[in-house]
Amino acid sequence: RKAYVVTVDGPSGAGKGTLSNMLADAYKWHFLDSGAIYRVLAIAAIHHKIALDDIHGLQPLANGLDVTFSVTDKGNRVILEGEDVSDDIRSEEVGSTASQIASIPMIREALLKRQRAFAQLPGLVADGRDMGTVVFPEAVAKIFLTASAQSRAQRRYEQLKAMGQDVKIACLLMDIQARDERDLNRATAPLVAAKYALEIDSTALGIAQVFEIAKAFIDSKI
Ligand code: C5P
Repeated sequence: RKAYVVTVDGPSGAGKGTLSNMLADAYKWHFLDSGAIYRVLAIAAIHHKIALDDIHGLQPLANGLDVTFSVTDKGNRVILEGEDVSDDIRSEEVGSTASQIASIPMIREALLKRQRAFAQLPGLVADGRDMGTVVFPEAVAKIFLTASAQSRAQRRYEQLKAMGQDVKIACLLMDIQARDERDLNRATAPLVAAKYALEIDSTALGIAQVFEIAKAFIDSKI
């Protein structure tokens, strides 16, 4: 039997990571944080001093990216070339760099196989922008999670504050809008709900409610 794949796509800050982790936990399935791969690539480019428009420098980096994901008692850890970058990849600067790199078609192509390798038995919850449209078009259940830009900025603010980072909500809102603009309008794999995806608007919902809706939908598909 093939591994089940459930996809969770949507704009940044809608709560995809939290929802995906809860679903992976509930079903005891694997979890793919595809954004983390783009973020790790961004850090690798910065480390290796490769310019963001240097496609011929970025492509081999994407192909040979030495990254491992592991679940530990300290949560999900991301290791790049032997170094724990789990916290570094979460900064706004890295997110913005990742989103610029992610607009390059050759880079997206180079990362496809690596992402598909996460589809392992018994199942996978894949979190990203194009999981249901491009990476796992055959997924058994697809979810598109949205929320207003204002509420996403507010949540990001609380997350960053909890991590001790000092930021302004207005800056976060501008950053989210810039990232939405890039993710929605890029030529390759733009952010769009997959056909037959269940759309959930989490603006006025708590995470427990979002989880219940998503789980009931998945249960009806598997
Ligand atoms: O989801 P996260 O904010 O970690 O992703 C960082 C950036 O990587 C996003 O702004 C988006 O541009 C890009 N990304 C993507 N496709 C994915 C996941 C992330 O283009 N599947």
